[in-house]
Amino acid sequence: MPISFDDSKKIFKLDTPSSTYAFKVYDENYLIHLYYGAYVPDNDFDGYEKRRQYASFSASNAHLTHTGFSADTYPMEIGCNGCGDMRISALQIRNADGNASTDVRYVSHKIYSGKPALPGLPALYANDDGECTTLEVVTLDKVTGAEVTLIYTVFEKLSAMTRSVVVKNTSDKTFEIEKVMSFCLDMESDEYDLITLYGRHNSERHFEKRPLAHGYQGIGSRRGTSSAQQNPFMALLSHNGSEDFGDAYGFNLVYSCNHLCETEVDFNNCTRVMMGINPTDFGWLLAPGESFYSPEAVLVYSNEGLGGMSRTFHRLYNSNLVRGKWKHLKRPLLVNNWEGTGMKFDDEKLYAIAKWAKETGIEMLVMDDGWFGHRDNDRSSLGDWFEDSKKFKNGMTGFINSVKDLGLKFGIWYEPEMISPDSEIYKKHPDWCIHVPNRDRSVGRWQYVMDMTREDVRDYLFNIMSDILGNNAIDYIKWDFNRNITEAGSALLPPERQKEFFHRFILGTYELMDRITKAFPHLLFENCSGGGGRYDPGMMYFSPQIWCSDNTDALSRVDIQFGSSLCYPASVQGAHVSASKRSGYETKRNVAMWGSFGYELDPADISEDARAEIRGQIADYHKYYDLIHYGDLYRIISPWDDPYKCAWEFVSEDKSKAMLTLLIKFATERRNFVIKLKGLDAGKNYICDFDGRIRSGAMLMNAGINLHEVPEKDGYSLAIHFEEVK
Ligand code: GLA
Repeated sequence: MPISFDDSKKIFKLDTPSSTYAFKVYDENYLIHLYYGAYVPDNDFDGYEKRRQYASFSASNAHLTHTGFSADTYPMEIGCNGCGDMRISALQIRNADGNASTDVRYVSHKIYSGKPALPGLPALYANDDGECTTLEVVTLDKVTGAEVTLIYTVFEKLSAMTRSVVVKNTSDKTFEIEKVMSFCLDMESDEYDLITLYGRHNSERHFEKRPLAHGYQGIGSRRGTSSAQQNPFMALLSHNGSEDFGDAYGFNLVYSCNHLCETEVDFNNCTRVMMGINPTDFGWLLAPGESFYSPEAVLVYSNEGLGGMSRTFHRLYNSNLVRGKWKHLKRPLLVNNWEGTGMKFDDEKLYAIAKWAKETGIEMLVMDDGWFGHRDNDRSSLGDWFEDSKKFKNGMTGFINSVKDLGLKFGIWYEPEMISPDSEIYKKHPDWCIHVPNRDRSVGRWQYVMDMTREDVRDYLFNIMSDILGNNAIDYIKWDFNRNITEAGSALLPPERQKEFFHRFILGTYELMDRITKAFPHLLFENCSGGGGRYDPGMMYFSPQIWCSDNTDALSRVDIQFGSSLCYPASVQGAHVSASKRSGYETKRNVAMWGSFGYELDPADISEDARAEIRGQIADYHKYYDLIHYGDLYRIISPWDDPYKCAWEFVSEDKSKAMLTLLIKFATERRNFVIKLKGLDAGKNYICDFDGRIRSGAMLMNAGINLHEVPEKDGYSLAIHFEEVK
């Protein structure tokens, strides 16, 4: 059993093939953390919890003064507010008396096969019960009556686990949850670097590394989305760690709204790490008998550095997060009209693109923004999800059918959570947008945000979308979200529940996504938020692909793809070749192949040569699809190590095939240039299509491949393929 409980020592041990996580029921039923790191077979963690104590300044529970224990210094499995633990807290409940002293202690536990779903929330799942084991530890705050259950699920084949928290009110008075973090990990030292993914629109998920330091460091979002600014991901890498070696811990929150990722190094040089709903603008009133479910956090450990950590996330998300028909099905190669036409299109224009697509070997036309209401620019019509008859001579259904008759699939764009002030629906229901009394409603891209906490709003959206999705041969939907939330409040929530707004908002969005995915299970979802503004595992639960960024310039997008790859697999990453000018079509293709590939242009705007090049690219897309979507990624030269060039490699699971891509972003003075491959089988021989030579995996990984003849030219790129020869 990968989860065990040693009754004599009161130790829980959660093992994966290469990691161990251990904690114990300590005196007075405190839950004390013992260890998280590389797998250890032993169960004798006696004394590992001990920390120095600092006399009266680190207070102790009255019954434990003789043991040297203090909740301020010992590693706590769930650090609570106000009862001795002075570090950032994982749980803060304001009880009916008005104070926020919180203190939960162990009551009972159960261990079982499988993984429970979290009501209303996206979460990882087990494909069959044998794949996961779950531990639920019930704790109780006997003063407030808060029963707090810690849920741990261990994945047996991957070095990964999840943690979430359920708070139940077992008292007869309502209390308020002010902070509940999804996990809390107290580590034995501060000898780690903190890695996060920061960015903005057009420039999402850039790698940033800083050493942990005494005090508090963290990132978060208060934008009503997981955000392009700070992804809900962080990693800790041991100071002596790197891409390929050392202890790497990755943490990711399955949540698409306001999050907080925190670290604190205390005066003992120990580190607390936590992740959960951002407590700013959050509070949740819990009436007697009610339960609150936190979103789930994913924890991955690797002793093969950041590379090992990333590959575990990729496998885990491909097998235990992405769902539905398109999980294993090959995704259609698409062309999207957005960068080519913007909203200036009609059926004739789109049909011409579709015809070109068919002749070229592209499999789906995606009609982007501009097909509804009177949407000729971004100042109107969001919410009016009915066709703009000016744009379709024979109606939109007639147009869709004509595209289908060509033998293409058809995709459509929506931005369901938005409402334009200039729309019919806003005139009818001005209270349906998020707003608070007596304040101006801020616009972002000329639009407001729908109040997704409201059932009537969600019903309206479901019905109006179903009308089109149910009556047309639509195969794909791009679900966009193009602004952040301001003046957060709902006309229907009472004042004391306005703090619940943001969480209720995302629960409403998840509910609508759930309804639509269930009603139209054949649809392929591509999520989008001005590109990758909601590039998080919560969205990946509904959308097997997410548009990675509106930035389609290969030379800068590659940095975004490298950052995204820390946690998210290539199969999820929407990546398109566009007409942007900074590099040739070969390089655009090589960069966009690292993902769910497609085109984003109007063929009428590009040269015949470019169109011919595109025709030549299609076969390679099919040939290497599985290698990229399901292979292992190795970052060879990362933009955070080298600003001039980068290289990455995919290796098939059976190690019979590999693809190495090199991109020279900016040419520099020529130096010798050898690339050492990774992840091959040392004992296998591989033929290489760069020089036609056959070399062993050992040679390719140790002596490498000499690329000194590669031209040093801005924007030059090269994909080299390796295939096993027997
Ligand atoms: C966002 C998306 C784009 C496109 C536009 C349409 O910016 O990221 O891909 O769909 O909206 O308005």
